[in-house]
Amino acid sequence: MFLFWVELICCRGIGGMMLAKVMRSLGGPKYDGKYLHEVVRQKLGDIKLNETITNIVIPTFDIKTLQPIIFSSYQIKKTPCLNAKLSDICISTSAAPTYLPAHSFINKDEEAGKEEEFNLIDGGVCANNPALVAMNEVTKQIINQSPDFFPIKPLEYGRFLIISIGTGTAKNEEKFNAQMAAKWGLLDWLTHSGSNPLIDVFTQSSGDMVDFHLSAVTQALHSEDNYLRIQDDTLTGIDSSVDIATEENLKKLCQIGENLLKKPVSRVNLENGHFEPLKSGETNEDALKRLAKILSQERRLREMRSPHTSRGRKNRHLA
Ligand SMILES: *[C@@H]1O[C@H](CO)[C@@H](O)[C@H](O)[C@H]1NC(C)=O
Repeated sequence: MFLFWVELICCRGIGGMMLAKVMRSLGGPKYDGKYLHEVVRQKLGDIKLNETITNIVIPTFDIKTLQPIIFSSYQIKKTPCLNAKLSDICISTSAAPTYLPAHSFINKDEEAGKEEEFNLIDGGVCANNPALVAMNEVTKQIINQSPDFFPIKPLEYGRFLIISIGTGTAKNEEKFNAQMAAKWGLLDWLTHSGSNPLIDVFTQSSGDMVDFHLSAVTQALHSEDNYLRIQDDTLTGIDSSVDIATEENLKKLCQIGENLLKKPVSRVNLENGHFEPLKSGETNEDALKRLAKILSQERRLREMRSPHTSRGRKNRHLA
C-alpha cells in the first residue's frame, strides 16, 4: 500500500514532492534523538532530581496513563519514584511529538523496593506555559506548611512573585481562516501549507490561557507589578523555528534575547488578547533588576528563619 502511494506521488511533480514530505513525516519523528540523548547522558551522568542546586519543576506527559507527570524537587520526598535521573527527565521533556521519539524508563525507589515505569513526551502538550505548574508546586508546599515559606494562605497569590519567560512565538500572519478550514479533513488539520494548524492552535492557546489567567488574577489582586511576562511574539521564519541549531541561528537567538531586554514591559490585553507595552515605560531589563532585588531580600529573610540553613538554626536557637 505504501509503495503504491510513493509511486503515485512520484508522478505528480512539485505537489507530489510536498506530499512525499508529508508522507515521510507521517512515518516517524523528524529526528531519531540518538545524538541528543548521547550528549544529555554524557553531560548529566547519574545526577538525580534531588541533587540540583535549586528547586526545579519540569512537566512531562505520560502517554500510557494519559496523565501529566511533573518532576518536582518539592514532590520527591512524598513520591520517591519521581526522583529520576536528570538525563531521563531532560530527554522526556524534549520529546516533542513529531520532532523526537517518546522516551520510556523505569525508576526504582530503593527504600520501598518499588519501581515505576514512565512513557513520556514533552510536557508542552499539557503545560506549554508552565508558570501555573510551578505555582501549583509552591501552593502545595504552603498547604503542607513548609517552614521555608511564610505562613500565608495557599491562594494568597498577591504574595507571589512570578517571572515568566517565553521562548518566543511566531508573529501571527493570519494564515488560516474559517473559509479554508471549513474544507479541511484530518490530514489538512495536521499539515497545511508548511505548518501544523492543529498543533499550532493547541500550543498557542494553552500557553496564552495561562498568561491570560495570571494577568487577570494579579490585576484583580492589585499585584500586577509582581507578575512579569517576557515574551517575543514577533518572530518570523527561522527565528521562530524550534529545531534549527546552527551556530548562526543560536547567535541570532541571543541577539533577539538582548533586544528583548531593552523593550518595554508588556502585558496581555484582557479585552483583545494582544500583548501590549505598558505606559510606565519600564523596560524588561529594569523590571528584572527590580524583581531581583526583592528576591534577594526575600532570600536573606528566609535563610534567617529557615530550619534548613545554619543561619536559620542559629536564629531559632536564639529565639
Ligand atoms: C539523592 O537520592 C539518592 C537515592 O536515589 C541518594 O542515594 C542520594 O544520596 C540523594 N542525594 C542527596 C543530595 O540527597
